[in-house]
Amino acid sequence: MEGWQERRTSFGSMAADYAALRPGYPAEAVAFLLGNRPRRVLDLGAGTGLLTDVLLAAGHQVVAVDLSSGMLDQLRARLPQVVAAVGGAERIPLPDASVDAVVAGQAAHWFDPAPAAAELRRVLRPRGVVGFVWNTRDERVPWVAALGRLLAAEARDHAADQGVVARFAAELPAEVTVLGSAVVQRVTSEQVVGGIGTRSYVATMDDARRADFLGRVRALLAEHPDTRGRDVLELPYRTRAYRLRPR
Ligand SMILES: C[S@@+](CC[C@H](N)C(=O)[O-])C[C@H]1O[C@@H](n2cnc3c(N)ncnc32)[C@H](O)[C@@H]1O
Repeated sequence: MEGWQERRTSFGSMAADYAALRPGYPAEAVAFLLGNRPRRVLDLGAGTGLLTDVLLAAGHQVVAVDLSSGMLDQLRARLPQVVAAVGGAERIPLPDASVDAVVAGQAAHWFDPAPAAAELRRVLRPRGVVGFVWNTRDERVPWVAALGRLLAAEARDHAADQGVVARFAAELPAEVTVLGSAVVQRVTSEQVVGGIGTRSYVATMDDARRADFLGRVRALLAEHPDTRGRDVLELPYRTRAYRLRPR
């Protein structure tokens, strides 16, 4: 529990790198969750605003909430038009029945399901929806599979996400539908290394261990036949968007 708490509050320490080094989300995932009519949407665990970007581009009005003031500082600098407040999913700093939807990108696994589900119900308007989205590296591509073997300590995959969704579906309670899509990040090798450095399990390593670990990632990218000597890599992700419609 202590390690989990340390990891979920670690994001502020690499907030400056986060928006530049993590992948965005496909517009179709947001369209699936929210439909095409402009909505008032809470982006919960909004971080530096990577999902917020896609929500705004689709015409939605966004309120951003995150535990980390460091992450929200980056969001405010990038997206000054968005109202942003520090707060947790377990105690959302918004009035009752104030949003049409609550979405979370790469964040719902950090929420404590029972108190967070009660808060989601409280802030949602009638017929509101909850949308959870995760990107997972697409390990059908050989060099991404090799990277995945190196990062085996990181236990996030679609099966884990489904467990989180099932927990929330039971707590809300809600009907669940899912859309699979994909997104590709065009990055240099050094940006791949930097992006892995923003993962909570790397950010919480001590300096020597982190340097050794990221050194092994760097060596893999320098040696693998599909990445060696390439200026720009295409890092593919599979995206799953889960729409939870409270009963
Ligand atoms: C992996 S980042 C994802 C950020 C952003 N949604 C994105 O897609 O780039 C997870 C975020 O969840 C936030 N977080 C963790 N636990 C939270 C909680 N219980 N309530 C609200 N935010 C939380 C962290 O501070 C962090 O900014």
